[in-house]
Parts: sequence; structure tokens; C-alpha cells
Amino acid sequence: MSGEHPREVDPVTGYDTTGHDWNGIRELNTPFPRFVLWILAATVVYSVVAWILLPAWPTGRDYTRGLLGLDQGAAAVAGLQALDGERQGWLDHFDPADFAALSADTALLDVAMPAAARLFGDNCAACHGAGGVGGPGFPVLADATWLWGGDPETVAETIRVGINADHPDTRVAQMPTFEWLTRDERLALADWVATLREGTAAADAPAATLFADNCAACHGEAAEGNMMNGAPSLIDRAVIYGQDPATIAETLRHGRQGVMPTWSGRLSEAEINLLALYVTRLGEGGQ
Ligand code: HEC
Ligand code: HEC
Repeated sequence: MSGEHPREVDPVTGYDTTGHDWNGIRELNTPFPRFVLWILAATVVYSVVAWILLPAWPTGRDYTRGLLGLDQGAAAVAGLQALDGERQGWLDHFDPADFAALSADTALLDVAMPAAARLFGDNCAACHGAGGVGGPGFPVLADATWLWGGDPETVAETIRVGINADHPDTRVAQMPTFEWLTRDERLALADWVATLREGTAAADAPAATLFADNCAACHGEAAEGNMMNGAPSLIDRAVIYGQDPATIAETLRHGRQGVMPTWSGRLSEAEINLLALYVTRLGEGGQ
């Protein structure tokens, strides 16, 4: 450009100007700074070296892999596999599960119990409440009373097959309806059963005979419950549905069949055993 114009030199700086004149303002024709050119040249050289050494150009489905053989995708996959292996590493101890040894392995429990708590939160808390506190229709798991038994093997079996569930070996808990008793009999029985846990139930009340004839076979002579058929104790503090006369009358009228889903197939054996140990420890107040 400057070639088309006569050379004009700025008197202050000594540089040429471009020759353009914007209302008396002229632009200096200063040379491009050297160091910028050097940086530019260096980046060009670097990129050529990088194309040769590192993965760079797409070639259809593949890409140029570079002489150094670096691959961050492979590194990420390897990292994930290592993590998975670590998890699998300790989870492997739960299938088959030697619960006595597992309970004594505090280092393992330190890793496993937080994972179990998350597993419980994801799969069980919706019904049993956070930390197994229970709710109407869903038994408390964080206590020492059990419908089917609170040792880890039994708890694992309950989780595996479920209760009144669609597993071929499901546990079956059937509280039949006593609609065929008269309403007055049901109400008297409900009142009487409600006093059992207070220890004030009269042994010679007509309801006591009704109980012996109709209920003791499942719930036990002293209403202590039966872990063979899941009939709850009616003399302790633990309740599924409620131990007030109105709720008991409701139970007698319509019967109860609580459903605990089966988890076999949905959780791995190791996860089921992990949860069994977690639930057992909830009951012991250990977690
Ligand atoms: C859809 C609701 C539901 C979900 C989800 C559920 N449960 Fe249950 N669970 C129940 C019900 C209802 C019972 C009581 C069944 C009955 O009334 O006899 C029960 C009973 C149990 C028992 C028997 C307790 C005893 O006293 O013997 C255990 C153990 C148990 N659940 C553990 C679990 C675990 C662990 C999970 C998560 C993997 C889980 N439950 C998920 C509804 C559920
Ligand atoms: C065939 C066995 C069987 C017989 C007979 C039976 N029950 Fe039950 N009962 C159960 C089972 C199993 C449950 C638990 C049901 C469930 O978990 O959904 C239960 C639950 C109950 C509950 C609810 C407890 C709670 O914690 O909410 C009450 C109350 C009860 N039975 C009272 C009686 C009375 C009273 C009779 C006699 C009139 C009787 N049952 C007869 C099996 C039986």
C-alpha cells in the first residue's frame, strides 16, 4: 500500500506513515513486533511436532495415533475399570457371605456399610423409611423385633424371596379376615388384644376364648408371635399396622397381607447379603 503513496515520515517517532489522512490524523506504519512473529513460528513448529507425536487427525472412522501412543480415552476406561475392580474387590466378600467373619472385619465394614446405606436408600427406604424407621404397613427394621428373624441369613432370605411376593419360594404371611365373627365379637376381641401389650388383658374374658380358638394357632398361645409364619407378636411394642382397638378391628374385618417384593434378580446375591448385614446391624443399633 505504502508503495502507491509518496513516502511520508512522522517527524515525532521517525516511522513511516501509511499515507492515509483522516482529517489530519495519520497512522504510523510501524513494523509487526518481532517477538509476535517468533511466537507464531514457534506454534507452527510445535503443532507439526505434536501432529507427529500425539493423536491428531481424523481419518474417517479412525485417527492418526501419534508416535507416543497416548490415549486419554483408554486411560479413562482403565481408571473406571480399576474403580470397578476396587468395588468388586470388597463386594466379592459378600458372595458367598460368611456373616460372622464379615461382621468382625471392621476395615471391610468401613467401606461396605456406607455403600449399603446408599443401596438401602435407593431400594428400600421408599417403603421402610430412611434408616429403616418404618411406617404404617411397613415394619420398622431398625429395632430388635422381627417377623421372620433378624439374623443375617434369615434377613437375606426375606430380601431374596420377599413376603407374599411373586417369587416361587416367597414367604407367605396371611392374616385372614374374621368378618364371619359378629361385629360385637370383633370389637370385644380388638379391645382385648389392644390390652395384651399392657399386660392387663383378663384371662377369663370371653375374648380370651375367642383368641385361643381363632388366633393362637398362628400368633401363639400367649400371642408372642411366630416367626415360622410371620404372625407378629401382639404383646410387644412393635406394630405393622397399629395396635389400637380401631386399627385391630379393621385388621380383623378385612385381614392383612402385606407385600414385601422379591429382590432376587433385581439385586445381585452379594448386594442382598450386603443389605442383610446392614439391616441386621440397624436392628442391633450398630449403624
Ligand atoms: C414396596 C414396599 C417395600 C419395599 C420397596 C421393601 N420392603 Fe421390605 N417389607 C415390606 C413390607 C410390607 C414388609 C412386611 C410384610 C408383612 O406385612 O408381613 C416388609 C418386610 C421386610 C423384612 C422382614 C422384617 C422382619 O421383621 O422379619 C425385611 C428384612 C425387609 N422388609 C427388608 C427390606 C429391604 C432390605 C428392602 C430393600 C432391598 C426392602 N425391604 C424393600 C415392604 C417393602
Ligand atoms: C393363619 C394365621 C393367622 C391367624 C389365624 C390369625 N392371624 Fe393375625 N396375623 C397373621 C399374620 C401372618 C399377620 C401379619 C400380616 C401382614 O404382615 O400383613 C397378622 C397380623 C395381625 C395383626 C396386625 C399386627 C400389627 O402389628 O399391626 C393383628 C392385630 C392380628 N393379626 C390379630 C389377630 C387376631 C386377633 C386373630 C384371631 C381372631 C388373628 N390375628 C388370627 C396371621 C394370623
